[in-house]
Parts: sequence; structure tokens; C-alpha cells
Amino acid sequence: MKLRTLNLALVALISFLFASCTSNKENAKETTNQLSLKEICEQNLKEAADNYSYMATQLPAGQFPKTFIDGKLEISGSDWWCSGFYPGALIYLYQNSKDTTLLNEAKRMLHLLEKEQYNTSTHDLGFMMFCSYGNALQVQNDSTYKSILINSANSLSSRFNPKVGCIKSWDSKPEDFLVIIDNMMNLELLFWATQETGDSSYYNIAVTHANTTLKNHFRPDNSSYHVLNYSSDTGEVQEKKTAQGYADSSAWARGQSWGLYGYTSTYRLTKDTAYLDQAVKIADFLLAHPNLPEDKIPYWDYNAPDIPDAPRDASAAAIMAASLIELKNYVSDDKAETYTHVAEVIIRNLSTEHYRAAPEEVGGFILKHSVGHKPAGSEVDVPITYADYYYVEAMKRYLTD
Ligand code: GLY
Repeated sequence: MKLRTLNLALVALISFLFASCTSNKENAKETTNQLSLKEICEQNLKEAADNYSYMATQLPAGQFPKTFIDGKLEISGSDWWCSGFYPGALIYLYQNSKDTTLLNEAKRMLHLLEKEQYNTSTHDLGFMMFCSYGNALQVQNDSTYKSILINSANSLSSRFNPKVGCIKSWDSKPEDFLVIIDNMMNLELLFWATQETGDSSYYNIAVTHANTTLKNHFRPDNSSYHVLNYSSDTGEVQEKKTAQGYADSSAWARGQSWGLYGYTSTYRLTKDTAYLDQAVKIADFLLAHPNLPEDKIPYWDYNAPDIPDAPRDASAAAIMAASLIELKNYVSDDKAETYTHVAEVIIRNLSTEHYRAAPEEVGGFILKHSVGHKPAGSEVDVPITYADYYYVEAMKRYLTD
């Protein structure tokens, strides 16, 4: 009898604890729902600083974060195309918080990145050097940063072929000249180099690349191919294909976001409305796409065969949000309202527990659920540094716009 009474009391106690725990959680959720998006962004940026402060304690000396898989932080050297995102995001978070430990960690990483200014084997120098040193220059007008960026612009320019009218993305057979849509993201470094030095050759390379890409990379519906293979001798297009998308003819989600961001920033830096028109066409293709989900977080490819079960790509969403927040400033009120609304929906959804990681949950990464290279089976449904970078950038833009 006594034992039964004790059991009942225990059950009652556990139920009470469970109920109060659930209701605390519900209350917290309700509070989050009631916050304005600006308040959510401010809270997220503070928490993101905690994420990256934790990540700093996890990184082996001399290494850069790449992803977090099966409970383990994966790392890279400075030559990996993503090496600029961690220092770049740390600088964004420093600008928001003024916490100098974030800036010091960024400077430690910049030092490790420095040698890449002479790397002529990659087109990713814009990502690597401008997202990092370019951001550093915004907080410290340092002549060393400037000379590193100018050397980086020279290295990137060395990959330009005037016959093709593009910067080479990937090295391959001598007769082939591979250009990917992602390469639009590396042009900002060149525009900056002309502004800084007065030497128009960087600007001319960037504009020629943007024009060639505009002419050849887009389909009639304004989606883009991932990879174009030009003849390095004649400049003719030999092949239009994919590497990271589902099919040659599909709309690989991150590639569409890179194009949107790249043409928006190229318009800002040139004021040529042909680029603005292209950015608007890309945005309108994406926002009207029947496979863009209600929550506006794209599947990894808009034509993935297993939609709605296909993995989402938080990185494609974050890049799209950052782009739309800028693009809305250049368009009619109606369009601006739509672009703002979609950016807000994306930020709100990326800020839920499903996407947003607690500081120590996945090695310090800020966002979960991105897709790196699905056809290769690598980095599928995992955290990734560029998702973090553009999510932080999108929130920063949203707060300061
Ligand atoms: N630039 C490579 C990627 O977006 O995965």
C-alpha cells in the first residue's frame, strides 16, 4: 500500500516537472514568436558570437573550420575555397558586438590566410580574400590589408582569358576552359582593386566576365547552368553542364543564389542596369518557382527528383536573403515589398531551432542543414561556413538597412 502511494506521488511529481518544463519551453517559443524580426536578429547575432567563440576553442592550430559531421569538426588548410568565411563572419560579429576577442580570433586567421594572396590556382580568391581581408579593411584601414588584396586581385586576374572573356574557374585539359556561375561572387575583389589603385584593368576584367556570363550562362527561363566549358582557343561554348547540381538542365539551388547575389553586387559597383535586370529576372524566377517551399528555404536543387523529401540547403537560403535585402533597394516599391517579405521569411525560418544551432551543438557552427556537393555525397545536410557567413550578413544587412 505504502509503495503504491509512493509510486503515485512519484508519477505526480514527474508529471508536474514535465508539464512545467514543457510550459517553460512553450513560453520561450511564444516569446520568440512575439519578438520583432529585428529583435530576433539582434539576439541571433549575440548568440552567433557565442557559437564562434566556442568554435575558436575547438580549432586545431593552423586550421580552418569546414563542417561538422558525425560529432566531429572537419577542418581545412588555408587553400580551401571556404577559408575566408570564418574570419569574415568573426569580423561581422565583432562589428555587431565590439567584442575584441572575436576580432583577435579573426586576425589570427587572417595571418594564416595571408599566403593565399599569391595563389593563382583558384578562382575563389574573392571568397577567400575579400570576405576576410575586405571585411577587415572595414574595421581597420590597414595598408597591409590593402596590399594583400591587390596581390589577390592580380592572382585572380591571371586566370582571365580575353579570347573567352572570362576568368577560369577550374583548371582542366588545356583545350577546355571551365567557368562556373559561382565565379560571379569573386568579381567584387576586382572592382575594389580598381577603386583602390585607379587601374581600370581589374574593372574591365570583371565587367567582361559578367557580360560573357550574362550572355551564355542563363537559360530562357533565367535559371543558370552550373558549369560552362568554353574552348580556350576560340572562346566558343563547348558544353553546358553541372557538377554540383542534380542534372545539366536543372537549377542547382546555391548556383541560382550565387547568380542573384553576383548580379546584384555587380549592379551596385557599375550602375549598369543590364546587371540589375538580370538580378531581378533571377529573383523572379526563384520566387515564382513551384518547388520553392512555403518557408522559402530551397531544396538543394529546384529540380531534385525526390522533392518534398530532398534535403534543404540553408546556404542557398541565406545567400538569397542577403541578396534580396540589397536588391530591394534598387527596384519598384511593389517588388521591394515582395523581396523584403521573402528575405524576412527566410531569416525567420533559419532562426528556428530546426536550422539554428546552439553554441556547442554542432562544433560552434551557427546553422545546420546545408548541402555542399550532393552528387559526390559530400557535405550533405550539414553545417557549412558559407551558410553561417551569409546568414550573419543577411541579418546585419537587415538591421542596418
Ligand atoms: N563554389 C562552390 C559551392 O558553392 O559549393
